[in-house]
Amino acid sequence: MDLIKFIRLALLPVVVFIFLIAPAPSSRSQRPKNVEREIDALMAKMTLEEKLGQLQQLDGEGNGTFRPEHPDLIRKGLLGSTLNVRGAKNTNQLQHVAMDESRLKIPVLFGFDVIHGYRTIFPIPLAEASSWDPALAEQSTSIAARETYSTGLRWTFAPMLDIARDPRWGRITEGAGEDPYLGAAFARARVRGFQGSDYSAPNKILACAKHWVAYGAAEGGRDYNTTEVSENTLREVYFPPFKAAVDAGVGTVMSAFNDLNGVPTSANPFTLTKVLRGEWKFEGFVVSDYTSVKELINHGLAADDKDAARAALNAGVDMEMVSRLFNQQGPALLREGQLTQATIDEAVRRILRIKFRLGLFEHPYVDETLESGALLTSENRAAARAIANRSMVLLKNDRETLPLSKAVHSIAVIGPLADDKRAPLGWWAGDGKPADTVTPLAGIKLKVSPETKVSYAKGCETQGDSTAGFAEALAAARNSDVALVFVGEPAETVGEAASKSSLDLSGRQMDLIKEIHATGKPTVVVLMNGRPLTIGWVAENVPAVLEAWMGGTESGNAVADVLFGDVNPGGKLPVTWPRTVGQVPIYYNHMNTGRPPEATNRYTSKYLDVPWTPQFPFGYGLSYTQFKITNLQLSAQRIRTSGNLTVTVDVENVGKRPGDEVVQLYIRDLAASMTRPVKELKGFQRVTLQPGEKKHLEFVLRPEHLGFWNREMRFVVEPGEFRVMVGSNSEDLIETKFAVE
Ligand code: BGC
Repeated sequence: MDLIKFIRLALLPVVVFIFLIAPAPSSRSQRPKNVEREIDALMAKMTLEEKLGQLQQLDGEGNGTFRPEHPDLIRKGLLGSTLNVRGAKNTNQLQHVAMDESRLKIPVLFGFDVIHGYRTIFPIPLAEASSWDPALAEQSTSIAARETYSTGLRWTFAPMLDIARDPRWGRITEGAGEDPYLGAAFARARVRGFQGSDYSAPNKILACAKHWVAYGAAEGGRDYNTTEVSENTLREVYFPPFKAAVDAGVGTVMSAFNDLNGVPTSANPFTLTKVLRGEWKFEGFVVSDYTSVKELINHGLAADDKDAARAALNAGVDMEMVSRLFNQQGPALLREGQLTQATIDEAVRRILRIKFRLGLFEHPYVDETLESGALLTSENRAAARAIANRSMVLLKNDRETLPLSKAVHSIAVIGPLADDKRAPLGWWAGDGKPADTVTPLAGIKLKVSPETKVSYAKGCETQGDSTAGFAEALAAARNSDVALVFVGEPAETVGEAASKSSLDLSGRQMDLIKEIHATGKPTVVVLMNGRPLTIGWVAENVPAVLEAWMGGTESGNAVADVLFGDVNPGGKLPVTWPRTVGQVPIYYNHMNTGRPPEATNRYTSKYLDVPWTPQFPFGYGLSYTQFKITNLQLSAQRIRTSGNLTVTVDVENVGKRPGDEVVQLYIRDLAASMTRPVKELKGFQRVTLQPGEKKHLEFVLRPEHLGFWNREMRFVVEPGEFRVMVGSNSEDLIETKFAVE
């Protein structure tokens, strides 16, 4: 062995040891000193126009290419970022203009909405949240990051962290549902998945926590609408997922479209500066939402373009998406003293900091030869299928209608979504292609025995009044042993600008289900939708109902896995399902009121014409097996305000199949200086149990779980009694009490 080789081998364990004990490189703290020095040096050379140029983000052409004006703007240093420009060739071409032809060679930051996958499309975020398994969201966002990176993009406008208590709001599909604790868990996981511990690493991308903030509280569920939310509710309900994302090191935040308590969120100094920069020490930058700076004029907060730029910049928006007011109005605002140089410099510094931390200056380009091999790999598809499996929620299963036998003689596959390749991709489907989608019909055909006869009939469309296809669908059902009906929502009726006044199945879908059911054949309804729907008749009459959501590229395979029992569904609803749209907003963590509903007392808080309870409560979902949760124990009956409490419980699979249960822990602070919700989720664990297996689970309640924001807007744990509840959903709970002293 030569000497050099010997030294290398001898030193290897030392190097490995140093690597193991060295702290993981964090993008937040990565070479901070050098970066700040590099920014100083660069900023010293920048003209005002070049500085304002870094604050500008412009949209590409529809198909991923850049606009004719982009190269020229970049050459002059007037464009810092684009959205929707993508593909290794396009991004490299534009980047070369910045790196080779512009004076200061500041790289362009390419962003895109990668919400639930780039080319391999995963279940919609609301579905992933139904898994109650944040590790899955970390996995899907990490795969999405890898695919995205290969196309030259380095930034996604995700995760969307808006708490949504109103299913009329179409964007409920993009978030983790109604609960801040679950939402925070998924926020952390998604930021970690996209960014890793260092977003400058190859295959990692910068994340963006959006929409800051309370965008999901839009009046009447009408997208872009006004929000009026108290500071306590902001801090306890709408902020926590964002706080979790900032703590996880998210690099950017997007301000929102909504007016918040009279000050639109894209010009709100309280949320953008006091909380985000001041209290949370956020070091990244804030990008506005699409033209939300210009829209300050429509809100009536700004008189004109100049006023809008002034309000947004001074409040703490750093980068302007699509409208161009910072660029156009910045110089005049500065001259007139309505904007300081320090404010502009702070915005530029924040944007450059992220570009440096991303490693964009050193690695501005992407390897064009790697792009096609990175997309839609078989491993990525397999992950999408497994994640879709775990995202499904079994809503009803009378008489063990499901799972079906693969040897069933004949199956009728019916409904407008049974063979639809677009709908399962949902809204914001990245660069997903319907041609790649496995539909339920295709998945079922692959699953059943060669002898099984599968007949398909669409029955009707998701929209419109035609029942012309009913006869064929009824005939298919009559000639089969079982009828599977796939209904739900088309992709274009969920997501942005897709608010609805009705949550009923659209078109003639409900009539189709009723007629199929009336044939007397065992009927299973599979829902493929992006928001809670009102399905009272189905819930009462159809023996089996599976919520498959919009499951992404591998939807059909995943649905077939569950329908035929290769996978036992274990998801739980991350949002309450109303019986009727008139009950909205209906959410589990509400206050109690002075007159909580009572069946026999008219003068209580309820409706005369519908029960006050939901169709399905938050946290609800069944399994092909059954579980028993028992033996709720506390480590103490009394704790101090600064103390922890350990809660333990046993969960046992008392059925005949292996399966998953999500054990949920809720608390209630029974009397406090401010009214507290009747239940608040403070812990959950998804566990897999074999038949007869029992597990002992432990949860720890800490001051951060027991406290709240008081009247003086201080976070406090107050002495008094607490109820602690554990169970399989927010209604089915066992409980005990403890006291805080
Ligand atoms: C949406 C954002 C999105 C942006 C860029 C806006 O209309 O509200 O969520 O990131 O467009 O596509």
